[in-house]
Amino acid sequence: VLPRIAVPDGPLDPRTLFPSAREVWLEIGFGAGEHLAHQAARNPDIGLIGCEPYIAGVAACLARIVDAGLGNVRIHADDARALLPRLTPASLARIDLLFPDPWPKPRHRKRRLVDRANLDLIARCLAPGGLFRFATDDPDYAARTLALASRHGAFAWEAAGPADWRRPADAGPLSRCEAKAGSAGRPTVYLAFRRLP
Ligand SMILES: C[S@@+](CC[C@H](N)C(=O)[O-])C[C@H]1O[C@@H](n2cnc3c(N)ncnc32)[C@H](O)[C@@H]1O
Repeated sequence: VLPRIAVPDGPLDPRTLFPSAREVWLEIGFGAGEHLAHQAARNPDIGLIGCEPYIAGVAACLARIVDAGLGNVRIHADDARALLPRLTPASLARIDLLFPDPWPKPRHRKRRLVDRANLDLIARCLAPGGLFRFATDDPDYAARTLALASRHGAFAWEAAGPADWRRPADAGPLSRCEAKAGSAGRPTVYLAFRRLP
């Protein structure tokens, strides 16, 4: 299945992969694909690209895609940082980064996906008004992402009150990490940033 739905190499306008889609969304680090497959099933008029270098996760996601007969998903089975620079600027309406590896030890924090350079890549690919959605159960990662995105200049934080960062991003099934955080009693922080024009 993967060769059929893999994202092609080279510079890419992702909208050409889904000619009849209203918008294209990207999920970075989809794990086993619970959220990606749910979004694809719930939004048949959207084209979804999933990025995940962990091949067992990709395999689990492919099984979901086949079982549900989803025709609106393409997979980049590799690092999102290799894909983002290849995409046409302002070509995505939404980018989801849900429970990225938290790298909780201070000396490992530079490995986190949210940093200034990757926010630049995300800002470049999002269309004006597009959404960057982030979720984590690591309080330090949540606070630093909020600080970095708020002073980046390309994003506006959407929250009006606490319910906005406590409410799950979707009504769908919980991702593996979201379920794990819940059963361990760790609250999740959900952040949604709007790409400024
Ligand atoms: C903690 S898991 C979360 C998985 C899933 N989003 C969830 O909520 O259950 C983080 C995922 O991000 C993936 N990941 C790490 N670095 C990545 C990168 N540079 N590009 C894309 N995915 C990455 C990992 O392989 C892993 O599957």
